[in-house]
Order: sequence, then structure tokens, then C-alpha cells
Amino acid sequence: MVKKIFSGVQPTGNLHLGNYLGAIKNFVELSNDQTSECVFCVVDLHAITVRQDPKELQNNIRETVATFVASGIDPKKSIIFNQSRVSAHSEAAWILGCSAPMGWLNRMTQFKEKAGKDKEKASIGLYSYPVLMAADILLYDTTHVPVGDDQKQHLELCRDIAQKFNNDYGLTDFLKVPEPLIQKQFSRIMSLKDGLKKMSKSEISDLSRINLTDDKSQIVNKIKKAKTDPLPMPSNFGELEKRPEARNLLGIYASVTNSNLEDLIKEFSGKNFSQFKESLSQVLVDKISPISLEIKKLLNDKKYLDEILLDGYEKANKIASKKIENIREIVGF
Ligand code: TYM
Repeated sequence: MVKKIFSGVQPTGNLHLGNYLGAIKNFVELSNDQTSECVFCVVDLHAITVRQDPKELQNNIRETVATFVASGIDPKKSIIFNQSRVSAHSEAAWILGCSAPMGWLNRMTQFKEKAGKDKEKASIGLYSYPVLMAADILLYDTTHVPVGDDQKQHLELCRDIAQKFNNDYGLTDFLKVPEPLIQKQFSRIMSLKDGLKKMSKSEISDLSRINLTDDKSQIVNKIKKAKTDPLPMPSNFGELEKRPEARNLLGIYASVTNSNLEDLIKEFSGKNFSQFKESLSQVLVDKISPISLEIKKLLNDKKYLDEILLDGYEKANKIASKKIENIREIVGF
């Protein structure tokens, strides 16, 4: 069976190691798998749920495309496009929003986190954002959605919305219920400044994350300054569980090098953090620097990036237009 893959990334700048290890690395593997058809979406409609500078947004859309390509996604094999261009996304979001009960949306933890204390001031878009995400996925009859752990609840909601819409209109398998693809390990990369907080582009301190555009000296400096505890490197899993920063840094090492965590614990057991950090910096520089250089190179060729987006739009629009046409008929338009 052909796997239909769909995933999205917000063009809000500062794509970081968490986005890469939690999602983009997985996109690359899936895009190279002959049995998968992949659609990767730059979700600009999602980005404007919080205020964006229009000029910067335009640059960030191109930078996200550049990051996909620099990481190893071949735009000839996978569809890469930006969401706002395919109007079926907004239309499907509205229609699905008329099936989705508010009670389900009220449970979304990411809204509560992002809206903060003053949720009366948060935009309606920020609140209904998971419905748009469901629309993204369901328009493409997606079977699998690769994401980081923080999107798990949104995917569960997407599955519920698909079933609810099918039930509401007496259909059995019209909207396909997708499977999440969340890695068992390292699907939540934590801040370099706090092992209990997710690595995030909205964190004020740039030292909390490795950006995919960081150069060698920035990477080395950030790892040098990464928070640790005063003990030597842990010698077993039990110890690792109780030491969030050690766990995160070893997890990053394991994920970047595709190695086994248990072997790494053995290799570094009892050593000083400074020794471990030197090795970690090296593997990160080896992995991230070529991507960072390639992103910068691609950003100089706006024409090429815009061509990718145009080609992707044409292909995505073909699929999504067909599905929205069926949806329109089903609801009676
Ligand atoms: P976004 O743009 O916040 O993040 C893009 C992807 O990166 C993952 N991610 C992480 N993974 C591990 N550790 C971290 N610290 C970390 N931070 C981010 C996210 O889980 C995500 O996979 N709502 C989505 C975008 C979206 C989407 C979709 C995804 C819109 N429509 C349809 C899948 C399918 C978002 O805001 O991701």
C-alpha cells in the first residue's frame, strides 16, 4: 500500500534542532521511501494566528522551503507548497469547524500554553488552529502524519473530527482517519537552558536552541553554555531519568548520530560534561553546518525557491480542489 504522508511546518523563523530531529529528519527518510507519496506544507495560515511582520513572513516562507531542500527533501519527488495559496485549506477548515464541538477544542493544551493568562485577547485563529490543521491533513487523504510529540493532541483531534464529519453526513470512509508517526525516542527535544522545557522558536534566549542557520562557532558556543548538573555523566538509565539536562543532551547526540542511547551511556559514563560536550559539538557541527550553508546558498536563489512553491502549489491544488469539491457536495452547496 502507498503511504500518503502530509506534514506542515510554520514559517515563523528560527527553525531549530527540535524541528529537525522531531520532524524534518523524518520527512527526509519518508521522502526517500519508494512506497510513500509526500506532501510538505509551509503553513503560513497557521503562522498568522499570532502577529507576523508581512515582509518577514515572506522571507520565512522561502527560508522554510530552503530548509526542507537543504535537509534533503527533493522537490521533484515530494510536493512542497505554501498553505495560503491553496484556498481549499481555509474552506475545509470552516466546514470542519462546523462539525467540531467547542468542547473538544477547549481541551487543547497548546492553545492554553500559547494564549497564556489573557486568553480573551488571543485570536480566534489561535483557538481554531487545530481545525485548520485537520483540514490540511484530511484534504489529501493522508494515511500518515510525521510530527514531533507536541502535535500529538492535535492529531488525535484531527482523527476525531474526521470520524465526526463522516458520522454527521452518514459516510463511512470519506475522510480518511490518519495515523500519527511520532518517533518513540527523541520526539521532544528540550531547551538547552532547561531540560524540562521544550526547545522552541518562541523562547526569548537564543542560547536555548540550536538554529538550523547557526554557524560552527554559534553551535560550539551554545553547547558550551548548555545547562548541565554538577555530577559526572550518568552511568545507567535510572540515573538518566532523574537528570533532565543530561538526558536531553545524550538524546540529541543519539538522535543526530542514529545511535543507541544505552551504548552512549556506556561510552560517556563517569566522564566530565565538558568532555561529552566537545564530542556533542563535533557531531552537531558535522550534521548542522552543511544544512546551514546550503540554506544560505538557496536563499540567494529566490527564483528557484519560488519555482518550487509554484510547482508544489499546482500539484497540491489539484488534489485539494477535488476533495473540497466532494466536501461541498456532501454538505449541500
Ligand atoms: P511547528 O511549526 O511548531 O513545528 C514543526 C514540527 O516540528 C516539531 N517540533 C519539535 N519536535 C521535537 N522537539 C521539539 N522541541 C519540537 N518543536 C517543534 C513539531 O512537532 C512539528 O512536527 N501545527 C504544526 C504545523 C502543522 C501541521 C499540519 C503538522 C500545521 N498543519 C498538518 C502536521 C500536519 C506546528 O505548529 O508545527
